[in-house]
Amino acid sequence: MSSTYGEKIKISVFGESHGNGIGVVIDGLPAGVKIDMDKVLVQMSRRAPGKDKTATPRKESDLPKVLSGMLGDTLTGAPLCAVIENTNTKSGDYGNLLNCPRPGHSDYTAYVKYNASNDIRGGGHFSGRLTAPIVFAGAICRQILEEKGIKIAAHIASIGNVNDKSFNPVSIDDKLINKLNNSSFALIDDSVEEKMRAEVESARLAQDSIGGTIECAVSGIEAGIGEPMFEGVEGVIAKAVFGVPAIKGIEFGKGFELSKMRGSQSNDPFEYKDGKVVTKTNNCGGILGGITNGMPVIFKAGVKPTPSISKEQDTVDLQKKENAKLVINGRHDPCIVPRAVPVIEAVTAVAILNLL
Ligand SMILES: Cc1cc2nc3c(=O)[nH]c(=O)nc-3n(C[C@H](O)[C@H](O)[C@H](O)COP(=O)(O)O)c2cc1C
Repeated sequence: MSSTYGEKIKISVFGESHGNGIGVVIDGLPAGVKIDMDKVLVQMSRRAPGKDKTATPRKESDLPKVLSGMLGDTLTGAPLCAVIENTNTKSGDYGNLLNCPRPGHSDYTAYVKYNASNDIRGGGHFSGRLTAPIVFAGAICRQILEEKGIKIAAHIASIGNVNDKSFNPVSIDDKLINKLNNSSFALIDDSVEEKMRAEVESARLAQDSIGGTIECAVSGIEAGIGEPMFEGVEGVIAKAVFGVPAIKGIEFGKGFELSKMRGSQSNDPFEYKDGKVVTKTNNCGGILGGITNGMPVIFKAGVKPTPSISKEQDTVDLQKKENAKLVINGRHDPCIVPRAVPVIEAVTAVAILNLL
């Protein structure tokens, strides 16, 4: 098993949800960059559970302990290793999953691949908890990007059938980026929050869960970054985004909608603005031929409903080799979307830093 991403900046995520701890090793970071740890902790706390009813009531402090790679507040250039202790585990809740895999979760595929030796407690290495070290890595990478004028922000684009407004695709306001970067229920239009929360609550009361979409934007990225074909910006970002559990789709710019347009509608016309080549629209999401065109890079990720629901479900008993019924205990997010927003920003930061 290996959970690594990136070539120039390589992250390796380790740990299991109910083991002693989880963490990340980041290779390739530049020496001499000062890191604001308070800013890192803001990102960690946006992802941490236990804050409201849309998330699991499991409370974790998610305090990263840096073991190497920093001297005081400065990166040394050595591999940066951070560990987060697991302090709030109730492994008894997972006893019945050893033989009866949860529909929608990784229990069955991990059982087959690792000959039932994988740690099933809390989802083991497949748990959403493993996104905490990813957010740590992203928080480091985005501080390096910010020095270059590159900013990343994401928001809850939809939960169920309730939609937020979209980013202005040609210009992302710094004030909006700042607001989203500090929010644990990140929305452009705050007036939809109540409706979204009601959607989550109605799923929770029905012993069910609900999914949604996240829109992410990278601003301040210059033209000419990325490679054609397989190392294109879309591919590099998509690989990182699909590393986040529960992400099942991604589209750049207008994405699948482009397939229904005419070329005259989908093409983004060029113009000179203040001596710089820009496009009047941004249907392509800031990427042409795998290479940035200088407009904001924009994409949407689709998040599936949380697999662990308390409603009775059909499954199989792998020991008895017969059909079975499953009732899942334990503490689960009725909706993953709000907590996944800072995770999407984080993997995007790691991806963009790799591309530079
Ligand atoms: C922030 C976050 C929190 C999550 N919380 C839960 C949870 O409480 N219960 C659950 O069953 N899955 C949760 N997941 C999703 C599972 O980890 C994921 O669905 C599972 O590993 C299977 O992977 P896949 O959905 O990518 O195929 C969470 C994912 C993220 C990103």
